[in-house]
Amino acid sequence: MEPIKIGLLGLGTVGGGTVNVLTRNAQEIARRAGRGIQISHAAAKYFNPNLIHGLDQIIHISKDAWAVVNDPEVKIIVELIGGDTIARDLILKAIENGKQIVTANKALIAKHGNAIFKAAQNKGVTVAFEAAVAGGIPIIKALREGLTANHIHWIAGIINGTANFILTEMRTKGRNFEEVLAEAQACGYAEADPTFDVMGIDAAHKLTILASIAFGIPLQFDKVYTEGINHIDPIDVAYAQELGYRIKLVGITKHVDTGIELRVHPALIPEPCLLANVDGVMNAVLVQGDAVGSTLYYGAGAGSEPTASAVVADIVDVVRTLTTDPEHRVPHLAFQPKEMSNLPILSIEQVETAYYLRLNVEDKVGVMAGIASILATEGISIEAIQQKEQPDGAQWVPLIMLTHEVTELCMNKAIQRIETLEHVKGSVVRIRLEQLDS
Ligand code: HSE
Repeated sequence: MEPIKIGLLGLGTVGGGTVNVLTRNAQEIARRAGRGIQISHAAAKYFNPNLIHGLDQIIHISKDAWAVVNDPEVKIIVELIGGDTIARDLILKAIENGKQIVTANKALIAKHGNAIFKAAQNKGVTVAFEAAVAGGIPIIKALREGLTANHIHWIAGIINGTANFILTEMRTKGRNFEEVLAEAQACGYAEADPTFDVMGIDAAHKLTILASIAFGIPLQFDKVYTEGINHIDPIDVAYAQELGYRIKLVGITKHVDTGIELRVHPALIPEPCLLANVDGVMNAVLVQGDAVGSTLYYGAGAGSEPTASAVVADIVDVVRTLTTDPEHRVPHLAFQPKEMSNLPILSIEQVETAYYLRLNVEDKVGVMAGIASILATEGISIEAIQQKEQPDGAQWVPLIMLTHEVTELCMNKAIQRIETLEHVKGSVVRIRLEQLDS
């Protein structure tokens, strides 16, 4: 059989990795796919030829992405340029032209996936996006196919390698934020705009996709509560560690009685929990299903060849499905398109979690009683309190509290009142705490 011809948009970190993997493992991949795979047409604004070893295998390379999506020879478009404007137009045009699509573009799927999947379904083509979430970890396939028997209760993931790398280096080496971020950028882990990593936006894109597949709800990126790691003070990383916790940027989505929680924020995770031990640029996703219990997926969440691993797996999947009836392929978002549910997404005020609080208080009789009384009136139960030793004569001392679970709304009210107390200085630091038990 003739090799299938693919068109590649982008020859950057992931595009270059895809060329390298497809070239290096060409024979094994062809044995798995049932036919050879040839990159016949590629477009890139610029690329580093020294980092890509299979360039000579590509028949045409130009700067014109439109020529690739309009090339009649090309059957599969692999979109690796990122962003959600030009990439969206190119993909919609490629679908209109009847091409199959493979993309690693999480922002695009999270924000425009509903329209893209609809267009693809009308045209009978597939849009595969394994590389959009957690790099090389096959979490989309695991959730959509491997766990299809389950009612999913919740998913908690470390799904941004750059933020995890920054927090790990802060905790283990006391390095500063900017220096570690620059290193993540140099390694090709960070987004083109690194605020996406630091502010939790990239993780929110990925969580949006995971929640849709887990719960059969439309993609709703605009409803994700998103908080980054930019405000994390190294002192809280250290205090958390003393208490037996690690601070991680987590994406959590939960099916609760009243709807779906969809949130990205830093959280204290107990040290014995495997997720707390996922360090550096690594990613991990913990899924709680009713039948299977807890399953954990761990691996490289970013980087050239780990992400290319997922891209190439999608290409092979698409090649295998070309001869099948489009009506009977695995649905893009796991559930049949007519069976999507409109479960409400909860606001962050409705979410219940435990909390780590740090207050600067005057070391005086009655101060603690005042704080405890406010917490009690808001129905907040204290699990632990620790006053940090300060040099003799220090007027203000840090007070650390861990609470039991409470709604964010009650916690907001309590914090507002505590901050007005005469013997409490400045803002209360609050970080959510997740036990992640089943
Ligand atoms: N910037 C992303 C990360 C790349 O650091 O995880 C992979 O999506």
